[in-house]
Amino acid sequence: MHANRRNTARAVLSTALIASQAVPGFANHVIDLSGDGWTLSSTNSSISVPAKLPGQAHLDLYAAQVIGDPYYGLNDFNLRWIAWSNWTYTSDPIQGLQGNASSTWLRFDGLDTFTSISFCNEHVAATNNQFRQYWFDVSDILQACTDQHPVLSIEFGSAPNIINAIATKPDQRTWPDGIQIPFEFDNRQWVRKEGSDFGWDWGPAFAPAGPWKPVYVVQLEQQDVHVRNSVVDIYRKGQLNNLPPDQTQPWVLNASMDFFGTLPEGVSFVYTLLDAERNELAQGELENVNTTNVSITGSTIIPSDMVELWWPVGLGKQSLYHIIVDVLKESVSFASIEKRVGFRTIIVNSGPIRTDQLARGIAPGDNWHFEVNGHEFYAKGSNFIPPDTFWTRVDKDRISQLFDSVVDGRQNMLRVWSTGAYSPDFMYDLADEYGILLWSEFEFGDAMYPVDPDFLNNVREEAVYQVRRVNHHPSLAFWAGGNEMENLILFNYVAKSAPNKLDFYIGEYEALFLNVLTPAVFENSKSISYQPSSTSNGYLKLDHSRAVPIVPRYMNLTEGSIYGETDYYNYDSTQSFNVSGYPVGRFSNEFGFHSMPSIQSWRQAVHPNDLHFNSSVIMLRDHHPPSGSLNTSNFDKAAIGQANFTSWIYATQIFQADFYKSQIQHYRRGSGMPERQLGCLYWQLEDQWQAPTWAGIEYDGRWKYTAKDIYKNVIIAPHQNDSTDDQLEVYVTSDLWSSTTGRVNMTWYDWSGIPQNIPTATSIDVTVDPLNTSRVYQTSLDSSLSGHDRNNLVLIMDVTTEGKLPNDETAQTFNHRNWYHPTPLKDARLVDPGLKVTHNDETKKFTVEATTGVAVWTWLDYPEGVVATFDDNAFVLRKGETREVGYRVKKDTTSGNWIEGVKVGSLWDNTTP
Ligand SMILES: *[C@@H]1O[C@H](CO)[C@@H](O)[C@H](O)[C@H]1NC(C)=O
Ligand SMILES: *[C@@H]1O[C@H](CO)[C@@H](O)[C@H](O)[C@H]1NC(C)=O
Ligand SMILES: *[C@@H]1O[C@H](CO)[C@@H](O)[C@H](O)[C@H]1NC(C)=O
Ligand SMILES: *[C@@H]1O[C@H](CO)[C@@H](O)[C@H](O)[C@H]1NC(C)=O
Ligand SMILES: *[C@@H]1O[C@H](CO)[C@@H](O)[C@H](O)[C@H]1NC(C)=O
Ligand SMILES: *[C@@H]1O[C@H](CO)[C@@H](O)[C@H](O)[C@H]1NC(C)=O
Ligand SMILES: *[C@@H]1O[C@H](CO)[C@@H](O)[C@H](O)[C@H]1NC(C)=O
Repeated sequence: MHANRRNTARAVLSTALIASQAVPGFANHVIDLSGDGWTLSSTNSSISVPAKLPGQAHLDLYAAQVIGDPYYGLNDFNLRWIAWSNWTYTSDPIQGLQGNASSTWLRFDGLDTFTSISFCNEHVAATNNQFRQYWFDVSDILQACTDQHPVLSIEFGSAPNIINAIATKPDQRTWPDGIQIPFEFDNRQWVRKEGSDFGWDWGPAFAPAGPWKPVYVVQLEQQDVHVRNSVVDIYRKGQLNNLPPDQTQPWVLNASMDFFGTLPEGVSFVYTLLDAERNELAQGELENVNTTNVSITGSTIIPSDMVELWWPVGLGKQSLYHIIVDVLKESVSFASIEKRVGFRTIIVNSGPIRTDQLARGIAPGDNWHFEVNGHEFYAKGSNFIPPDTFWTRVDKDRISQLFDSVVDGRQNMLRVWSTGAYSPDFMYDLADEYGILLWSEFEFGDAMYPVDPDFLNNVREEAVYQVRRVNHHPSLAFWAGGNEMENLILFNYVAKSAPNKLDFYIGEYEALFLNVLTPAVFENSKSISYQPSSTSNGYLKLDHSRAVPIVPRYMNLTEGSIYGETDYYNYDSTQSFNVSGYPVGRFSNEFGFHSMPSIQSWRQAVHPNDLHFNSSVIMLRDHHPPSGSLNTSNFDKAAIGQANFTSWIYATQIFQADFYKSQIQHYRRGSGMPERQLGCLYWQLEDQWQAPTWAGIEYDGRWKYTAKDIYKNVIIAPHQNDSTDDQLEVYVTSDLWSSTTGRVNMTWYDWSGIPQNIPTATSIDVTVDPLNTSRVYQTSLDSSLSGHDRNNLVLIMDVTTEGKLPNDETAQTFNHRNWYHPTPLKDARLVDPGLKVTHNDETKKFTVEATTGVAVWTWLDYPEGVVATFDDNAFVLRKGETREVGYRVKKDTTSGNWIEGVKVGSLWDNTTP
């Protein structure tokens, strides 16, 4: 870049920035049709109500009081008629159109889903994909239109009706029984619409319809373009997808704009890099510029030392920058985009275990872990599902509240499950700021899909749009093709239902997940890894010189080798704490068990008369019977009694938390075992409505305390294969990137809190290497516990170490406490621990004390009308011990009075009627 050019560009750019804010001229004339000013009507016009855009019919009907709260009672069933009807959104007459424009376009960022669009009473187009952006030239229609203020009308056909009609066309293809997992409405595989809209095992089935994203009218002059989408890709020079890049290379910035309209000849393409405070760091022309009639692309090099790295939360700072890209004609910018970006590399390394790894004791097979900026790290997190059936009421505040909980819960990664919807831009923006990595997926799952050319083209358009839309976000961690496609659908369901057609279905699977989706990622981004399915055995081969670079491994496994990721579900509660039944793998992307939401959440959704076990309203909200939390036999067997409905709820939540703790400590210990386990994401972060599910956070944000404690950096944990195994071991596991050193204390007590004379080496020195585990204790229970009543014993263990967080030079102290009981909890001879709670108005902390015994699953609970999270909950207290507990208030309608309603309980209170 020559100095004089840089100066020109800078001068021009400041003009351009001002121009794009106000002054007409080259700027597009854009009318945003969002907001009021719409009418929603049923096709036969028996219902007609004011509507909003973005909108979904159910919410507009609710706002107009045509229906009640869709989430109340049995409305999941009662409101099905809405899904079976067609709905039309009609705009008010559109003001502000210019008569002198050279062309006029409609741009739709999301239509859910089957539409017929008309403008000035003329048919424009039909659409059939919720996840695509659509744009249509309506210049001719406008020219012929006699209304000065034409009307835009969008008819939404009933998705359940239409997919049933598609599925039952004469000669239509079918699939063998047992391959497709249906929920409330059948045939979801026939439409590109959020799969969980048709029901899922954690959510209701409303199949909503409506213009769920903004709609614009765009008017252009003759030599003018409108940028409808763009991609910014930042990667290390020479980087290839799925492979560890050379971290010493400079950054490549590749930018591309997708437009409609006509790009004039002789344009230049320039970029400006700004820091977070908008100080300019660099500016210049992009090189290797390629233009087509729909896009313009160019790239440049950014020196490594010009920028700081972006890191996930807990691993360093979230440094962010702005990149502005302009298309200039005669020194004036007429097309401009701005993206906030971060400089980082993130890959999924699923390459073969190397000889140096074998030499370190790592089991053969393939890797499967994330590397950020060249570093392995432990991914701690959960699975994100659509936080509401109605996306148009999910706003930035809702997601920030959830992300606060994610970070408070010590999580650094969310797997954004498909078969929901692609995450909105504001969600990625927030994740960039919070440092939460988003494992993203194309919206397919738990079914085989059509592979006719129309369907595949539709998917291609969708995937390319989505990949380009979100690629610049440093929080984007991964693209996976779909949910549970390989190990579950192909090699379990197809293999069982149609074993002699397995190859045929593998072929169909590859047509979509390899041949369409791989290029959608690799041709638009070099920075992101792709894998065709979440939960798979990874790839046999990755060769970027091949047309389809990935060769999946499928079931070509070698005994003793480890491949891919694992998931684990087992609803036989007698097996829940059988550690030897848990998977031993590189990465666990799903595992879980149901629990009930709190009584406070139930009250939001059901009538008080329904708050009992046999209420059909309660029963019908469990969409995963019979293994769900309403299967009382699970809990009779497992552990915990029930005094009444509320203590039943508590029991299910404790059982869930105990099961998650048991698995997470097993997976984390695996970081130092031959499996070199480097991540666990439990199922599922949050609820979509008030119901018994796997969620750790209820619909309004209330916590169940699923995993926060066991996601601390340094943890101590017992390990016993199952409750009948004589060997008890204790491990200290650390996910820090440097060694940590300290001490462990362990003491056996009876439940009344009296220390027992059982040798444990009360004080043990411990050092844990980076991302590793150390065994600190091992004993034969038969010998060490002989003469003791095992039902009256609890081992309490504490660890305190000194160490440093990654990318942080400050020495810190890390504490963790855990406990172990040698028999199933239901047999424990608990005593009343005499819990007391007080609130200190000055320090804004609660103090909890156990006065007469050991308290386990000590649980602070707060009344309705508030959403608050305790810094610590579900903990264990020795007799005579106190714990100070801070809290964060996220929503309060009680003027602070909730504090008086805070109660403390523990396992004892809830097993004693
Ligand atoms: C009109 O549509 C509504 C909603 O689909 C339906 O409930 C009603 O029966 C229909 N009325 C007539 C006359 O078809
Ligand atoms: C087009 O018409 C609008 C008013 O409708 C006016 O503001 C604008 O300057 C006109 N543009 C041109 C290029 O004539
Ligand atoms: C509903 O919409 C579909 C698709 O646009 C159409 O085929 C059907 O005729 C419509 N039904 C009614 C009752 O208007
Ligand atoms: C433009 O196209 C050429 C030839 O296909 C290619 O080498 C170059 O990398 C492209 N530029 C960008 C920025 O993609
Ligand atoms: C199975 O994997 C081995 C390498 O591990 C490879 O040589 C062989 O070709 C594979 N078999 C099939 C059927 O893909
Ligand atoms: C271990 O026990 C000793 C003696 O009771 C105490 O001083 C120390 O603080 C304890 N350490 C931990 C990590 O609990
Ligand atoms: C359920 O039992 C607990 C004590 O076990 C008590 O605190 C609570 O009030 C009871 N709830 C109802 C609804 O009876």
